[in-house]
Amino acid sequence: MSNSDTSNVEAYELRINGRNHEVRDSWIGESLLYVLRERLGLPGAKGACEQGECGSCTVIMDGRAVCSCLVMSASAVGSDIATVEGLGTDGQLSDVQRAFLEAGGVQCGFCTPGFIVAVHHLLDASPNPNDEQIKEALSGNICRCTGYGRILEAVRTVAVQRRGQQRGVEA
Ligand code: FES
Ligand code: FES
Repeated sequence: MSNSDTSNVEAYELRINGRNHEVRDSWIGESLLYVLRERLGLPGAKGACEQGECGSCTVIMDGRAVCSCLVMSASAVGSDIATVEGLGTDGQLSDVQRAFLEAGGVQCGFCTPGFIVAVHHLLDASPNPNDEQIKEALSGNICRCTGYGRILEAVRTVAVQRRGQQRGVEA
């Protein structure tokens, strides 16, 4: 069935980045990735493979990093969804976004939103990851450009920065 088929349409609400978004005239089988990008104007998550293989579409759903290309959008009703658009504050880049830029972990940028979301998810759960844990956490994200070394460097940098900030708060 194509996305233009109107024989099976739904209106529902999704909670994304702390706000409710109404989805209208949506075919019931549309993926969360499609709805984010094409219906809600949130193009941060990218569709590279649309088969759950590359991680470019990663979002956080109820605390889990998921491939939004594999999630049926209507099944996400009632879930808390976080996308790359919700990570910065007041128009400023997040610490992870800044570190990727500074380390040169971005080239074509197609994989980058998925990596950024996955790294936030990792560091929120595990503030002091070793390299093996970083590689494991990012094993579902594929980059065709950077060779991963700079991405790893960016993750290590943010982990160190956050620990420094934490010590400052505790002092
Ligand atoms: S586009 Fe979803 S995993 Fe590749
Ligand atoms: S920067 Fe091009 S795919 Fe990662």
